[in-house]
Amino acid sequence: MAKMYRNTLDTLHGFTKGIITERKAKRANGEKTSGKETNFLDMLLEHYDAGEIDDEGVREEVDTFMFEGHDTTSSGVSWGIWCIAHHPQVQQRLFNEICEMIGEDQEEIIITEHLKKMTYLDQVMKEAFRLYCPVPDANRRLQNDFQSGPYLFPKGAVVTIAPLILCRNKNVWGDDVLSFDPERFSEERESKRHPFDYIPSSAGPRNCIGQRFAQLEAKVMTCWLVRSFEFSSNLPFESNRAGAEGILRPYSGIPVFAKIRI
Ligand code: HEM
Repeated sequence: MAKMYRNTLDTLHGFTKGIITERKAKRANGEKTSGKETNFLDMLLEHYDAGEIDDEGVREEVDTFMFEGHDTTSSGVSWGIWCIAHHPQVQQRLFNEICEMIGEDQEEIIITEHLKKMTYLDQVMKEAFRLYCPVPDANRRLQNDFQSGPYLFPKGAVVTIAPLILCRNKNVWGDDVLSFDPERFSEERESKRHPFDYIPSSAGPRNCIGQRFAQLEAKVMTCWLVRSFEFSSNLPFESNRAGAEGILRPYSGIPVFAKIRI
């Protein structure tokens, strides 16, 4: 492995190892979570203490959560802001909904009950995740031959399932597939689609384990941002190319203006 990658991996692994070591020390001092309050790391360390998983195993699990959980949500929220900045009417309607539900007071905290009632926020986030799927593709190596209609996919082949391509399928989303339109997720239009037409969190038994948490996290962040700032941009919407690098990256960053709301 090239030295550069080795150094990067060492940094990443060092970060998660530090978190695990710290938690082990706290547990040794009697600080443990239990019952309903048990956190994920403590669960893993219970299995570690019982000799059912080794250090490497714990680190791999923590790595997965740490990195699946960070980059994905930040990609989704960032692209969401890019979309909102280019669609002032959407932004205004969203701001109105936020004010109606939570108020303009910056100190007012956002709770799950608010989010459940915010149907327009839900539509906006779904549409942003459709157009800019944070995880653009997922790969599987076939364990058996797989026949799909006239096509035989042989055992051992690597199959790519690309939520980004499915979410931009003109047969489903229409010719204006690249336009940002939260109305695609109105109750009526959503009910007419197949569940697999929209799979930013993948589907099936190995779909995203953190999707509910991710949706709440992304919504809370977006609410705070839109309540605090008015976003705009002087670059064309289409100019920011998306690159599939494990996570969907904006090649131009997210160059938007953020005007503080009073
Ligand atoms: C917008 C945010 C997110 C998106 C779009 C997303 C999307 C996905 C997708 C498409 C997969 C399947 C990948 C594959 O099969 O190769 C996946 C798996 C996974 N995600 Fe997420 N994810 C998000 C946030 C999170 C968060 C916040 C967590 C944890 C707190 C998380 C934890 C995981 C884990 C552990 C897996 C592997 C599940 C398994 O293999 O059984 N994800 N995610």
